[in-house]
Amino acid sequence: MKILPSIGETQSCCHEWKRQGKLVGFVPTMGALHQGHLSLVRQARLENDFVVVSVFVNPTQFAPNEDFSSYPRNFQQDQDLLQTEKVDLIFAPTVEEVYPQQHNHTIVEVSGPITAGLCGLARPTFFRGVATVVAKLFNIIQPTRAYFGQKDAQQLAMIKQMVFDLNFDLEVVGLPIVREKDGVAMSSRNAYLSLEQRKSARVLFQSLEMAKARILDGEKSVSYIVSEMKQMIESAEQTQIDYVEIVSSQTFEAIATIQPEQRILIVIAVYVGGTRLIDNLQLQIS
Ligand code: PAJ
Repeated sequence: MKILPSIGETQSCCHEWKRQGKLVGFVPTMGALHQGHLSLVRQARLENDFVVVSVFVNPTQFAPNEDFSSYPRNFQQDQDLLQTEKVDLIFAPTVEEVYPQQHNHTIVEVSGPITAGLCGLARPTFFRGVATVVAKLFNIIQPTRAYFGQKDAQQLAMIKQMVFDLNFDLEVVGLPIVREKDGVAMSSRNAYLSLEQRKSARVLFQSLEMAKARILDGEKSVSYIVSEMKQMIESAEQTQIDYVEIVSSQTFEAIATIQPEQRILIVIAVYVGGTRLIDNLQLQIS
């Protein structure tokens, strides 16, 4: 397994593989890897000749008041995990390597309903930071396929839109959310939770399951379902709701009434203590 901090060397290596007609799978990450990340790496391993994982905590997707400096970093453990998964190359650049002029003058911004609501409201500069760094990574690696988690549903939809709009020559693969045994979605930020907060965090998935059960029972009113979810979340210790919404899983536009044939996404963001957690559940209405 190669570990390269340099853009130039990573580019030459990946382009050589592509020139040989090999399939290159790419998994972008910010490190502090867990089973959610590794599910993407394993799928990439199955479907490609070479697998590249980037480990880069991207400063431009963090607002000044967010957790860039305290974001968990554990590169030695990440290396060991990726070695076990038979990854071919870790691209692990410094901030200076990615942003030699401190920041990019060229910004990629995906506009419209996919990025306007939900996390786009609480984190107004987040999506353009992600889109810009992912566009750079795609240009450096030029993968055949790139793998993203449904955990960050809005991010995944935005990347698909960017790839479509900017004609990136690659396939975006979205994979399901990996959860802990008690239902909590795996996240590097779970490391911030105290024992008590970790218990409270279960309410996110519990509220999604409750909403699913209501919908399968025939409940049509989104405002009713959402208010039940909010009550449930607020009853857990140290929780503060950022958003609870039901949107179209294609367009991310709000839905008022559950109707046949819809593909919906129940999406939530909740602060547990000071930690902002997100989760979602997709449902195809019959
Ligand atoms: P990061 O939070 O490290 O996540 C990297 C990838 O892992 C994302 O595609 C994310 O959706 C996926 N992932 C995280 N938790 C998951 C889980 N429990 N189940 C399945 N997949 C999961 O997302 C980012 O990094 C950054 O924004 C990045 C795309 C790397 C750009 O900087």
